[in-house]
Amino acid sequence: MRLFFALWPDDAVRAELARWSRELHALCGGRTTPPGNLHVTLAFLGGVEDAQVAEVERAASEVSPRAVSLVLDRPGYWKHNRIAWAGASVVPPALAALVSELRGALAKSRIGFDAKPFASHVTLLRDAREPRAMPALPPVEWRLAGFALVQSVTLPRGSRYEIRKTWRG
Ligand code: 2AM
Repeated sequence: MRLFFALWPDDAVRAELARWSRELHALCGGRTTPPGNLHVTLAFLGGVEDAQVAEVERAASEVSPRAVSLVLDRPGYWKHNRIAWAGASVVPPALAALVSELRGALAKSRIGFDAKPFASHVTLLRDAREPRAMPALPPVEWRLAGFALVQSVTLPRGSRYEIRKTWRG
């Protein structure tokens, strides 16, 4: 199954991000992420054998879940993959520590993951056009108690993400 670790928004944060999505969509077009799929990826595992899932969960339970305050204050656009996103101009040290502890625990258990450095962002639009200028958007204040292991389920109309397990501080 296809798995990744993520920060998962509560309903209030999700609603604010959906508002950002609509504003950016008006400028950039593309496909908006369904609100129920909005998240920040901490580590992308990709395909994992059913028999290895327990080991993935055991490795994650070694990580101390921390309370993190993340302010998404920066809409951005990546040309190389035509993604428009919500990002944080400051990555709180507690979040950087969480990512490094989680990735360290996965590596120690020889669980493979995409080694691209962590980029604190929520993908809002795919196949988007580059806007002439990014709009100013009201910062989204997000207080997190922990992180989640998420399964990506492929459906005819796209992927749906389902939380398998959460770890909270
Ligand atoms: P993206 O939002 O920047 O596309 C589920 O696919 C999540 O894992 C998405 O948030 C995606 O990031 C992220 N991800 C990170 N590395 C990935 C990879 N190598 N392949 C697919 N998704 C990846």
